[in-house]
Amino acid sequence: MNTVKTVRELRAAVARARREGKQIALVPTMGNLHSGHAALVTTAAQQADFVVASIFVNPLQFGVNEDLDTYPRTLAADQEKLLQAGCHLLFAPSVEEMYPNGMGGLTRVTAAQLSNELCGSRRPGHFDGVTTVVTKLFNMVQPDLAIFGQKDYQQLAVIRAMVNDLNMPVQIISEPTVRADDGLALSSRNGYLTEEQRALAPALYRHLSEMARAIVAGERDYPALVSQHLAHIEATGFRPDYLEVRHARTLLPAQPTDRDLVILVAAYLGATRLIDNIHLNLDSPL
Ligand code: PAF
Repeated sequence: MNTVKTVRELRAAVARARREGKQIALVPTMGNLHSGHAALVTTAAQQADFVVASIFVNPLQFGVNEDLDTYPRTLAADQEKLLQAGCHLLFAPSVEEMYPNGMGGLTRVTAAQLSNELCGSRRPGHFDGVTTVVTKLFNMVQPDLAIFGQKDYQQLAVIRAMVNDLNMPVQIISEPTVRADDGLALSSRNGYLTEEQRALAPALYRHLSEMARAIVAGERDYPALVSQHLAHIEATGFRPDYLEVRHARTLLPAQPTDRDLVILVAAYLGATRLIDNIHLNLDSPL
C-alpha cells in the first residue's frame, strides 16, 4: 500500500489504476482507525479492484469548541490497519494541501435541509463541512463507489442527498455499525472515555434496542416512548442531547403510520459526545 500526501500524486496513482481497467472505491476517514473502518475497507475491496482510503481531520466540520486539536492522529497504526484490511492507496494530505487558499472565502457545498435537524442543529456548519470535504475528495479521486458507515446515520443521509441532488457519478454504499461485544458502537471518540464512563456507555444501545423491540411489538406513541427512555438514560449518568424516532429517509419526526424508521440518540458522558442509531423497517423487522 502506498501513502501519498498530495493531490497530484493521488491523481497519478488513481489514473494508473484506471488505465488498468480497475474499478475505484473510496473510503473517506479522519483516521484513528478501528474495526469499523476496517469493515469499510473490506467491503470496498470486495466491491472494487482498487481501494483508496483517505485520512484527513477536516477543520471545516469542527465547531469552535470541539475537539479538532485533540482529535487523535495515529498515522503509523492506521497505515498498518489499512494494509491488513486490503487498502491499495492511502491519501493523507495536510490542511494546506486540502485548503491551499485557506478556508475563509472557500466555495462550499451546502448540505440538504435534512442536515439542519438532530446533530446539525447542535453542530452548526458541521454538515456543510462534511459535504464540502467529501465533494473535494470525490473530485480528487473520482471513485466509482464510496463507502460510509451507518453509525453516522445522518451523515450518510446527507451524503446520499448530496450525490442525488448534484448528480454526482458515484455509488454510495453503507456499512452496518460495528459494535464491541457489549453493544457499544465503535467510534474514534470512545478513546476519550474513562474506565467508568466506558462501562456505562453500552446503555445507549440497550435503550435503542428496547425501544426498537417496543415499536416492533406495536408501540406507536413515540413521544411517550422517547421521554421514558430519555429519563432512564439521564438517570444512568448521561447528559442526553437528543433521542428521537424519525422517518428513516427524510429524518422528519416519525408518524404512527410510517414503516421505515430510525431511532437516533446523541448523549454526553462527561465531555464526550456519543451517537448511535437503529434503523427499523417494520415491513422486515429486526
Ligand atoms: O465520518 C467521517 O470520518 C468524516 O465525517 C468524513 C466522512 C471522513 C468527512 O471528513
